[in-house]
Amino acid sequence: MKEQLHRNVHKLIHYWRAHWFWWAVTLAALTPLAWLLWRGWHGALGVDPVNTINNETGRVALIVLFLSLACTPLHILFGVRQVLSVRKSLGLIAFVYAALHLANFLGLDYAFDFELILHDAVLTMPYILAGGLALLILTPLAITSTRGWMRRLGRNWKRLHQLVYAAGVLAVLHFLWQAKAAERAEPLIYAVVLALLLLVRVPPVRRWLVTQRTRLTRRKPAISRVLNEAKTTH
Ligand code: HEM
Repeated sequence: MKEQLHRNVHKLIHYWRAHWFWWAVTLAALTPLAWLLWRGWHGALGVDPVNTINNETGRVALIVLFLSLACTPLHILFGVRQVLSVRKSLGLIAFVYAALHLANFLGLDYAFDFELILHDAVLTMPYILAGGLALLILTPLAITSTRGWMRRLGRNWKRLHQLVYAAGVLAVLHFLWQAKAAERAEPLIYAVVLALLLLVRVPPVRRWLVTQRTRLTRRKPAISRVLNEAKTTH
């Protein structure tokens, strides 16, 4: 009995050591949702709750999507493998926020009046199409994010999941497009950050960064391994 308990505690400690980072990042990414639900439940979403939900779910979806896109560049720049473990869950959580953003738009803003949505929103506000396309791209990525789909799709899994960059570009376009002229500074910052994240992935830039990093950390034999690692992660 005592031995069994000891073994279980040992297992738990082992699990925690291996997964604490994943849990910390995942829970942190879900905190804005909990906060939104809490305020919704207590009627504390301000004078225009639909607008609050729209702005917060949209912004958090974008930020979490960016964090998932930043994992590989962070690995290339600093060599921290741990960040790769959260890439997929961050992508999934971004999808959940984006889906809630759409549900709020369709249900709370337009009461599922699809004719009104078509005439009042889709046809008159083209930024809606950019957002819709971004979400459309994120949907198969979320569905195929499981290990089973990874195995089934083989090499095509990586190809499919590279579409996440297109989703990122469309989401930034959506954000930029819907902003009034005086509010463009923030979406422009997102556009610059996205450009930098994409730049790190350009093969010559990536190779140069890995070489610099290896030189700085003076891990001589590691260069080929690191280059290999950089090749296998997208
Ligand atoms: C079918 C999909 C989508 C629809 C219908 C939609 C709709 C909207 C609408 C109506 C607005 C508010 C515009 C305004 O206040 O004038 C908005 C803003 C926004 N959306 Fe979307 N969106 C979609 C997808 C996305 C996706 C996939 C993302 C990010 C990954 C996103 C991020 C944002 C952001 C950051 C804002 C700005 C929020 C703010 O002003 O504070 N949207 N969206």
